Parts: sequence; C-alpha cells; structure tokens
Amino acid sequence: MPATAAADDSATALPAGTSAAQSSFSTGVHAGSHDSAAAPILSIRDLSVAFDTGEGGVLTAVDGVSLDVPRGGVLGVVGESGSGKSVTALSITRLLPQPSGRVTGGEIWFEGEDLARVPLERLREIRGNRIGMVFQEPMTALNPSHRVGRQLAEAVLLHRRCGAAAARERALELLAQVGIPAPAERLDAYPHQLSGGMRQRVVIAIALACDPDLLICDEPTTALDVTIQAQILDLLRELRRRRNLSVVLITHDLGVIAENATDVAVMYAGRVVERAPAPELFARPLHAYTRALLRAVPKLDGVPKTPLFSIEGRVPPLSELRAGCRFAPRSGLAHTEAQLVARPPWVEVAPAHWVEQCPVCAPVPAISPAPPAGRRGR
Ligand SMILES: Nc1ncnc2c1ncn2[C@@H]1O[C@H](COP(=O)(O)OP(=O)(O)OP(=O)(O)O)[C@@H](O)[C@H]1O
Ligand SMILES: [Mg+2]
Repeated sequence: MPATAAADDSATALPAGTSAAQSSFSTGVHAGSHDSAAAPILSIRDLSVAFDTGEGGVLTAVDGVSLDVPRGGVLGVVGESGSGKSVTALSITRLLPQPSGRVTGGEIWFEGEDLARVPLERLREIRGNRIGMVFQEPMTALNPSHRVGRQLAEAVLLHRRCGAAAARERALELLAQVGIPAPAERLDAYPHQLSGGMRQRVVIAIALACDPDLLICDEPTTALDVTIQAQILDLLRELRRRRNLSVVLITHDLGVIAENATDVAVMYAGRVVERAPAPELFARPLHAYTRALLRAVPKLDGVPKTPLFSIEGRVPPLSELRAGCRFAPRSGLAHTEAQLVARPPWVEVAPAHWVEQCPVCAPVPAISPAPPAGRRGR
C-alpha cells in the first residue's frame, strides 16, 4: 500500500458508545451503473476529527460528516482547498497525521465493521487487503531508491503467501493491467525514470495489489497534465467496471466529478453541505455553495470575454469557524446572528438528496421531513 507523508497507526480515541439551476453538465455518461438498492460499501456517520495544534488549541477540521459510498459506485467528494476532504479520507484508514490528528467522534462502517473502533491489527489487514489508496503526488507514495518491480512485489507479498518469483509475476501482471507499455522492462525502472502519468499508474497498481473492494483516490490526477489526467480517469473507470470496485474520488474539479461520479458530496469548512446522486445534484443544486462551485466552472460555450466567476474570499481557518452556516460570510447573503450560531438542520429534500438547510443558503421546503432522531444520514 502506498504510504502517506504522515501515515501513522495510532488508535482513535472515541467517546463510548428551489429554483432548479440547470447546469451545463451531463452526468453519468461514463459513470456506469451501480446497485443503489444495495447497502453502501462504506458509511461514515457523524465523523469528527480534531488536531491538537499546541498553542493554537484543539481545532476541529471535520465536523459531523456523513457519507455513503455506493457499492460498485463512485462517490465524488468536492470542495475548495481546506474543506476537509483529505482529513476525512485519511480518517477512514486511520492515517491521520500524528500525534496531532484524532478522530473525536462518529462511525466508519465498512462491510459490517466500524473502522473507527476495530483494533489496529484488524485495521492493518483491512487497509491493505480491502481498501486501496491513491494520493495526489505519486512520488510521495513511491520509494525513489527502489525499483518499481520490487515495490510492487513487496505490496503483493504483504498480502499473499507466495514466493518471490510468483510475486514478481503478479507485479508484471499488475503493471500490464494498469496499461504500462513494455511492463517487463518497467519492472526494473526506478520511479524517477518514469513520467508522472506512469508513476501514478504504478501507484494504482500497488493499490490494486491486494485486490481491494474500495479504492480511495485523493486528487489522483491533480498533479498530471490534462491528457494524462484523462487517461488515468479512463483507467480507473475501466478497473471499476472489470473489478466491480467502489471508489471515493476526491477532487477540486467538478468536471471530473460530472464525468466519473455516481454520487456527489460537497464539502465546505469541515462539513458536507450537500450530497445527492450525481444527476440530481447537477440538475438541482440546492446549497448556495454548490451553486457557486458550479458557476465557477469555466464553460467552453460561455460568452467570450465574460470574466470567469470565482467565489470571493477563501475557506476560513479552523480557528474562525462558527457553529452555524459556514458559507454565510462568502455567500453575499444576509444572515441573522442566530443563523451563524446554530447548526442548520440536515434534511433529505428528495430521495437521497441531503442538504444542510440554512434558510438563507438553502431555502428549500423539505419534501420529506427530517427523521425523528434528527441526525440520521448526517
Ligand atoms: N496536521 C494538521 N494539523 C493541523 N491542521 C490540519 C492538519 N492537516 C490538515 N489540517 C487542517 O484541516 C483542514 C482540512 O484540511 P484538508 O487537508 O482535509 O483539506 P482538503 O479539503 O483536502 O484541501 P485540499 O483541496 O487543499 O487538499 C484545513 O483547515 C487544514 O489546515
Ligand atoms: Mg486534500
């Protein structure tokens, strides 16, 4: 499994126990189908993560996030820099930066086990065998001083009882599967001898070495040029189809989401503000933040010389976050003090379409009332 820059094994410390804005996106063209009736392969409920920043105090980076990854589907997670996408992803397999990062609440259900609570030994088994990870910068996941073949074979040996020759054979097979030309020659290459796109293919091959059910991809193509990006996304799509993989795809790029995701979660300042099946989200974005993200996407058929829309300001630092509607200061819409201090309810406004219903930023009538517990799905 590729390592993160700050991988660590520490245990978690948990407490016991509208007007439809039609967008120009056509979605699901390539996303393929998934079984929406089946139980999600991964269900995150009310996840909170904090960092102990020393003098700066303990700051909450992820605040009550809930996500579902459909079995055989692709959950696209989108949001600006600093919205908590990577911290959420790292929490799933307990790879938060240590010693500062800690899951402070919530559940992470994966195939009947709560990953936030399983013993570390069990988590290690799941990490390599069931959940693969691909990060933005392939060089951080590869060891620059070892040949690609050795790194792949090591990943194979970590999860399979087999001899060195069989591991090398499997490494070769994996390189071919991820579309590396002349794979036998590449086995003996060092990472720096490969292009960025090839390196990312190697990282994907390592992630696939254990034949995972779930692949978590955190900005897997951001460091690559657009042509290579398209090739890597094609590869992920093909692998998903062939292996029935479920995928979490984290990206800044709504275009990538539109082309690849079956479901979308929009994150802002440590929370999910909206989530829905992709076609529904693009056809009927309800939260002002989702709409702003959509408006900020450059359009080829836009009126020439019209300035590109961009969202004013930036995601506030963790120390400045308030409990209420976090998008309020950037929304250009007047909020009352009460709306800034009370967390908006999380409401299912259409089947599987959830929104953080700030009366100003998401003024939609609830089609179905919030469930009695008030937190289901959050
Ligand atoms: N080790 C850390 N110590 C303190 N704060 C951290 C640490 N790592 C992340 N954070 C904070 O957590 C918040 C969420 O960060 P995260 O990396 O998840 O954002 P992101 O959505 O992945 O952004 P990007 O799109 O830039 O990758 C940010 O405010 C970030 O500064
Ligand atoms: Mg990130």
